[in-house]
Amino acid sequence: MPSPKDVYVAVIGAGGVGKCFLSQLENLSNRLSKNPSSPKLSLVLVSRSKKTLYSQQYSALPLSNLSSSLDSSTQEHLSLPKIIEYLAAAPAKVVLVDNTSSQDVADAYPQVLAKGINIVTPNKKAFSGSYKLWQDIFTAASTSGAKVYHESSVGAGLPVISTLKELVDTGDEVTRIEGVFSGTMSFLFNNFAPTEGKGDKWSEEVKKAKDLGYTEPDPRDDLNGLDVARKLTILARLAGLQVESPTSFPVQSLIPKELESAASGEEFMERLYEFDDQMEDVKVQAEKEGKVVRFVGSIDVGKKEVKVGLEKFDRSHPIAALKGSDNIISFYTKRYGANPLIIQGAGAGGEVTAMGVTGDLIKVLERLS
Ligand SMILES: NC(=O)c1ccc[n+]([C@@H]2O[C@H](COP(=O)([O-])OP(=O)(O)OC[C@H]3O[C@@H](n4cnc5c(N)ncnc54)[C@H](OP(=O)(O)O)[C@@H]3O)[C@@H](O)[C@H]2O)c1
Repeated sequence: MPSPKDVYVAVIGAGGVGKCFLSQLENLSNRLSKNPSSPKLSLVLVSRSKKTLYSQQYSALPLSNLSSSLDSSTQEHLSLPKIIEYLAAAPAKVVLVDNTSSQDVADAYPQVLAKGINIVTPNKKAFSGSYKLWQDIFTAASTSGAKVYHESSVGAGLPVISTLKELVDTGDEVTRIEGVFSGTMSFLFNNFAPTEGKGDKWSEEVKKAKDLGYTEPDPRDDLNGLDVARKLTILARLAGLQVESPTSFPVQSLIPKELESAASGEEFMERLYEFDDQMEDVKVQAEKEGKVVRFVGSIDVGKKEVKVGLEKFDRSHPIAALKGSDNIISFYTKRYGANPLIIQGAGAGGEVTAMGVTGDLIKVLERLS
């Protein structure tokens, strides 16, 4: 029989973030086990797209070498509906950790929450999809009492969502949110248009970023601006705007029209140099004004305006002075006045993203009665 302190954890997704999360979970579980009044965590299921490892009797799976145990699992792979059925029948509280970027998993959140299963996730899809899905998620959570946290869906482990929620919940008036929300775009523009020195041609900078692993395998998935638009959708909704979808406001794509239909990422990269003049013009125009160009997202809460695209900044502006692949997010509010509350640091990477997920798990544990 489980004790009231038992909490079962199920993890879907064991890629870059998932693997780091599993190692942080082992650490957390060891730490909690030293305090008899703490919850007792048991990992009961871990799955990837075609593999599942789980305990039919809800006993704890060994946390060490879990990735290789999952790879070599010979258990029947459980579909998402089967996983939900299995978790709903668990004889203790359950936290589902979604470390995928799957829309199918995200679409199931209302059903999962309605069954009293808590969710923590870095997956943006649920919170930046249709407004109806957003409403269904929070209605299901408030009806069942299940918790849902998604700190790492914006700015990875940076405390962006918790900060915005706290500003709103404590009655501050958020007037504007502005920032660099993509590590890839940050890296590209900090090198292409540095505040000191001169960057390379645009296609060369994209190639360098790709070779260093900063872009998706097909860089168009970064350059179309959708990833940033999804993050802006989440923040705008938390700030009180009813944003219908990440395509319901202006989003500037950096993919030349002629290359939108390129058959592959390779073909796109081979032909990108043909359009270097377009980005060079933007850079030179900014330089003439003593500025640099950056790819930013902004939300004007009063005007209900959300937009994503290129903007020029004075060289001394915090957005211009960003380094490497860091993110920066500025909250302009009534309380903070002319000097915004600024959050800055690594906005991508397995360990920092998993930190946000583990932090969310800790919040759920603190709130489970
Ligand atoms: N990486 C970052 O720096 C970062 C930063 C912020 C947020 N995030 C978010 O964190 C999440 C995970 O990112 P990642 O970099 O770890 O991705 P990843 O390396 O591609 O890993 C994704 C994992 O999810 C599994 N998966 C995908 N669809 C599934 C499904 N329907 N059912 C079960 N498993 C499924 C994959 O299975 P297979 O192993 O079988 O392919 C893989 O293990 C994403 O939502 C991403 O946007 C990542």
